[in-house]
Amino acid sequence: MSQIRAAITGIQGYVPDYILTNAELEKMVDTNDEWIVSRTGIKERRILKGEGLGTSHMAVEAVKGLLAKTKTSPEEIDLLICATTTPDYVFPSTANLICDMAGIKAIGSFDIQAACSGFVYALTVGSQFIETGKYKKVIVVGADKMSAIVDYTDRTTCVLFGDGAGAVLLEPNTEGFGVLDSIIKSDGAGQPFLHQKAGGSRYPPTHETVDKRWHYAYQDGPSVFKFAVTNMADVAAEIMEKNHLTGEDVAWLVPHQANKRIISATANRMKVGMDKVMLNIQKYGNTTAATIPLCLWDYESQLKKGDNLILAAFGGGFTWGAIYVKWGY
Ligand code: ACO
Repeated sequence: MSQIRAAITGIQGYVPDYILTNAELEKMVDTNDEWIVSRTGIKERRILKGEGLGTSHMAVEAVKGLLAKTKTSPEEIDLLICATTTPDYVFPSTANLICDMAGIKAIGSFDIQAACSGFVYALTVGSQFIETGKYKKVIVVGADKMSAIVDYTDRTTCVLFGDGAGAVLLEPNTEGFGVLDSIIKSDGAGQPFLHQKAGGSRYPPTHETVDKRWHYAYQDGPSVFKFAVTNMADVAAEIMEKNHLTGEDVAWLVPHQANKRIISATANRMKVGMDKVMLNIQKYGNTTAATIPLCLWDYESQLKKGDNLILAAFGGGFTWGAIYVKWGY
């Protein structure tokens, strides 16, 4: 029997209605549209407004849409994995909450935390359950409400992030379509450059941690930029070499959307023209684990059966990785 691959058989995204424009940010911090667009490529981002709404509320919209679109009933799902850095709670997991809200009962579900590489990590993990033959229908979600941990008085981070969610359905395929290879990497020495200092077990919440603004995402942008440019391009090149792919063979680069300059550098290294690069950073900013599934959702109508896709990401940790997918529909 030919090898079982995990094929993506459906994709659905969700972004909140509220649009935070560069013009609005200009009124909040000392920044300007010209700087944001030229340094990052971002024009606007979506923000989830509403008391008591968290990452799961966006994720469940994507999951319900995915079930409807693929004509799958909640009872058929065997496993749900959610990549997120902004879980609704420390516990239970956001994946648990999504299942409950979507009517998916008594299956395994768990979160994966790998910051902006979260979806690449979760897709790598989810695929294994299909490839081994253990499960037939796995949902992988990437979702983040970054507005919950962004300091809107810090111009170096607040212009970058937005909220959103995306979900894919994985099913077995024996005709050579699906996830054909993946590489995931990490280096915990990157912690000082990109982290949220308090709220975990090292610095539980206190009045002092709140006063020091330690519950917000901190990023040393220029340092992260150097690591991101090198590692995202390296890992994309590595997976291409491993699978004997040239730039010509790649139909689409699906990069994490942190900065348009990092994306261009990765495309250059892969010898892939920018016309073959999925981009949505201009309208959503960096939605962390949601950027890659949101790209696939936005570009779904342009994808053709047999297209070679390279997914590549870099994020906090540091974490990075790449996936080679042969599109199946
Ligand atoms: N508006 C105007 N000026 C600004 C802004 C702003 N929003 N932010 C910073 N500046 C200023 C700085 O203060 C600095 O001024 P100075 O020269 O007077 O000191 C100048 O602009 C240049 O700042 P840099 O930080 O050097 O700008 P840079 O070109 O590096 O761009 C950015 C910053 C966009 C953050 C970039 O470094 C970057 O993209 N880094 C990597 C992001 C990334 O990949 N993150 C990983 C994923 S995120 C995750 O995992 C959660």
